[in-house]
Amino acid sequence: MLTELLAEQLPLVLKWRNDPAVRQNMYSYEEISPQEHKHWFHSVQTDPGRRYFIYSCSGKPTGVVYFSNLMPFKQQAMWGFYSAPGAPRGTGLRMELEALDFAFIDLSLQKLNCEVIATNKKVINLHRKTGFQDEGLFRNYHFDGHRYIDVVRLGMIRSEWPQAKKVLTDRIIRTKTTDTA
Ligand SMILES: CC(C)(COP(=O)(O)OP(=O)(O)OC[C@H]1O[C@@H](n2cnc3c(N)ncnc32)[C@H](O)[C@@H]1OP(=O)(O)O)[C@@H](O)C(=O)NCCC(=O)NCCS
Repeated sequence: MLTELLAEQLPLVLKWRNDPAVRQNMYSYEEISPQEHKHWFHSVQTDPGRRYFIYSCSGKPTGVVYFSNLMPFKQQAMWGFYSAPGAPRGTGLRMELEALDFAFIDLSLQKLNCEVIATNKKVINLHRKTGFQDEGLFRNYHFDGHRYIDVVRLGMIRSEWPQAKKVLTDRIIRTKTTDTA
């Protein structure tokens, strides 16, 4: 379930966002202070181009899903997500399912885009297996404080979502089966 991010959830989200496993896969990789986090939340609340959601499973918050560059005129957006440290296996798949349903059904987008740092193979594979298409490689696009790294751009069109949703739902069911086997 996705619910709009609330001010009282900021300390929890800051903890997740500052986890090295999350930070290393984000464009802004420096540790974020509580003060910066507050400013950031204020800027999100006043920007119609960005929306942040808490993903909860059985009532427990386990991740963040966000949309940026929301362009109503073009019906397009960028999206991203991260999970809480120690979130159960399959959380990423379930967040992707909810995020894409929200994008194509609730927001009625005709296209959803994302950019993934090339070293983040897990997420690139996750998106490709879901049905995102590669749309570009931005060479030396991201600087991680030590080196320049390529960034992969992926996209999905609304007409592709029904088929992709079946594939993703199957994977979620398979993950559950493997976990309980
Ligand atoms: C991206 C993220 C949300 C994925 O969440 P997750 O709960 O670990 O993902 P899942 O358990 O649902 O697994 C997703 C896929 O990755 C695979 N996977 C999970 N853990 C893995 C691991 N340690 N090594 C390789 N593959 C792994 C799963 O098998 C699954 O693929 P499959 O359907 O082919 O089996 C989480 O890893 C995260 O927060 N990463 C840091 C932030 C980030 O990179 N965000 C994206 C920025 S664009």
